[in-house]
Amino acid sequence: MSKPIPKTPEEIKEMRTACRLAAEVLDYITPFVRTGVTTAELDRLCREYMEKTQSTVSATLNYAPPGYTPYPASICTSLNHQVCHGIPGEKPLKKGDILNIDVTVISPAGFFGDTSRMFIVGEASILAKRLCQTAYECMWLGIAAVRPGAHLGDIGHAIQRHAEGNGFSVVREFCGHGIGRKFHEEPQVLHFGKPDTGIKLQPGMIFTIEPMINAGKAAISELSDGWTIVTRDRSLSAQWEHTVLVAEGGVEVLSLSAACPLPPKLVAGTLATATADAIAALSPAPCHVEALNTHRVQSPPFMAG
Ligand code: MF3
Ligand code: CO
Ligand code: CO
Repeated sequence: MSKPIPKTPEEIKEMRTACRLAAEVLDYITPFVRTGVTTAELDRLCREYMEKTQSTVSATLNYAPPGYTPYPASICTSLNHQVCHGIPGEKPLKKGDILNIDVTVISPAGFFGDTSRMFIVGEASILAKRLCQTAYECMWLGIAAVRPGAHLGDIGHAIQRHAEGNGFSVVREFCGHGIGRKFHEEPQVLHFGKPDTGIKLQPGMIFTIEPMINAGKAAISELSDGWTIVTRDRSLSAQWEHTVLVAEGGVEVLSLSAACPLPPKLVAGTLATATADAIAALSPAPCHVEALNTHRVQSPPFMAG
């Protein structure tokens, strides 16, 4: 495994744009995620928004790493016990479903931005809500561990501790990744681990943090479509993803957008000032997982509810 090459200031600027664009696709699709809509329709809408409104291209459409068949859609939609890489289809969403939508765009300048969120369709069970909330906190605790001089293992440790402390488990087979002019670069960002292990973080490194948290056991299986990953015990699974930059002052979250959910209370005060300021500029309203599907009613951004 080779070490990641820190990005240049010009590359960082382009990555800010790419990641914001990815987040804006999620902002756009949010009001459409409702009972009765199919994930195929969400895919169609996102593709149209990327190509027509943004002039971006989906990085997932026809993505074919060695040994895989080309991925057939412009977003990943992972429903309930699906862990990641779910393929959009014709089954309508129903009340109580939990859905991850994962968007990776290629910006007009050729840079990749990658982010995902959970959506709760109507009222979900207490367990489903707790799982989505805990996964969200896991991602942010991982983000809060990022600063120059910290180790990659600090991120995984923060995530694992919180997930397991809440009685949930962390998927081992999939990880966060460096990202830039390519979809998947060094380093591999594991969502479990030990403090002070792994490479030392340096300013300019850009990678994703995208923990997959299961309500049951950590083990996964792959469906015969060649892509969809599910929990082996068919328990619920939740995932959130941001792309982050190791900044001089700590961490900069690149995949923020006007309507993205705010950090949970749990990390308030632990984020570097630069991050906290950038987030404060977005919205004064805190995010509750329950509020994620409500329409945004005001401008500048508020999540209603
Ligand atoms: N966006 C996913 C990630 O976070 C990768 C999706 S690859 C696909 O790394 F082919 F399944 F779309
Ligand atoms: Co990713
Ligand atoms: Co992703």
